[in-house]
Amino acid sequence: MAIKRAEGTKDLLASEALFWTKFRQIAFDLFARYGYSPIETPVFEKTELFVRGIGEATDVVTKEMFTVVSGGNLAKLIAGEHVRSDSRFSLRPEGTAGVVRAIAQNGLLQEGGAPVKVAYAGPMFRAERPQNGRQRQFNQVGIECLGADDPSIDAEGIVMLMRFFEAIGIPQDKMTLLVNTLGDAECRPAYRDALKGYILDHAGELCEDCQRRAETNPLRALDCKEEACTRVMSGAPRIGDFLCDSCKAHYAQVKSYLDAAGVAYVEDPTLVRGLDYYTRTVFEVQVSVGMDNNQNAIGGGGRYDKLMAEIGGNDTPGFGWALGYERCKIVLEALGTQMLEPEPPALYFACVDADQRALAFRLAQQCRDAGIACEFDHQGRSLKAQFKQADKLGCAQVAVLGPDEVAAGVVKLRDMATHEEREVPLEGFAENLSHVI
Ligand code: HAM
Repeated sequence: MAIKRAEGTKDLLASEALFWTKFRQIAFDLFARYGYSPIETPVFEKTELFVRGIGEATDVVTKEMFTVVSGGNLAKLIAGEHVRSDSRFSLRPEGTAGVVRAIAQNGLLQEGGAPVKVAYAGPMFRAERPQNGRQRQFNQVGIECLGADDPSIDAEGIVMLMRFFEAIGIPQDKMTLLVNTLGDAECRPAYRDALKGYILDHAGELCEDCQRRAETNPLRALDCKEEACTRVMSGAPRIGDFLCDSCKAHYAQVKSYLDAAGVAYVEDPTLVRGLDYYTRTVFEVQVSVGMDNNQNAIGGGGRYDKLMAEIGGNDTPGFGWALGYERCKIVLEALGTQMLEPEPPALYFACVDADQRALAFRLAQQCRDAGIACEFDHQGRSLKAQFKQADKLGCAQVAVLGPDEVAAGVVKLRDMATHEEREVPLEGFAENLSHVI
């Protein structure tokens, strides 16, 4: 049997590949207005970066990473021998950890300097069970801002994300922006303890995962999709009652900047997110079309003031978010938004016989150099078949070259819609053409 692509991956064909290109273009154009410029980091990093950055108790790290060992170490691993941690690599499950590493490693932050604002787009890899809106290789567009803890950075980033969704055609009334704060190193430990106590008190009513989370990651129990857990956890202690004064003030300011920008949001005290690096602001954008409730987040992020220190860099505050391209596409399809189709060539060169092919080839090149998209017969078709092909490609005009035209020093230009014909001088053809098409 012919080999097929791996489960949970997709091929982006013609119009979709074009749409992904356009999607990134809209993103980077918009982000530039907010001072974010592109960055590219490797698609694989040392596994340790993700373990320390994302958190060793997270689902992403414990269950979802594609990890490889380099070279001959695989044989050792299979034989049960120890493999040094610096020869283990993982395909990036998300972009933040790699970007923060790159900013630290390349010394992009200057003491007292402006925050570093970067944006990225590319594939991420998570070994999840594939379903609608959940793939093993998927594309994210994301931004990160390092070196500023001001709440205006959070609000600016969130507003930019909402503007992007609108720019690609998702109406405001189909999206809900959920916001929350997770506190910081000062106030979160007390909240963690309170949640842990609550989970242990209700252990019998919760799923096994949540019981385990009491020790490893009690906040994640707030995010469990099991019905019983959702019910029990709705009565759990709320972060709002534990926040220290500075976290309270920070959160209030984020909200007031969102108000100032006229961006609507819903406060959700149970919003915790799946990655451990967050401090203070967290948020998610959910949609009401195209996907079921487990996959309805098209984007999300928050503040991570301890991540850079966690991976060995200087203590530097950070904020960012990422959105899922495939999920956006599902939403746009459900809304009936037209995907982009490749533009047809403006012109097709048809030759009466093979003697004109070299001339047609040269004229086609002149046209392309002048910015006119055109196509040429590469298969030695009959004139009739060349017209058929031009029609199939959707070309608006056909340039006909035969012995009579060559002798008269002209090209016959036929409009495919009206069948009108006109003659364009061969001399300076591309230049002449730009006046008529
Ligand atoms: P995340 O919420 O894990 O955050 O992913 C962001 C978005 O990626 C999700 O909202 C979703 O649209 C998309 N996504 C995630 N997993 C899949 C999947 N398996 N298949 C298809 N789409 C998926 C992050 O990744 C953080 N790095 C965001 C961030 C940046 N926080 C701070 N800076």
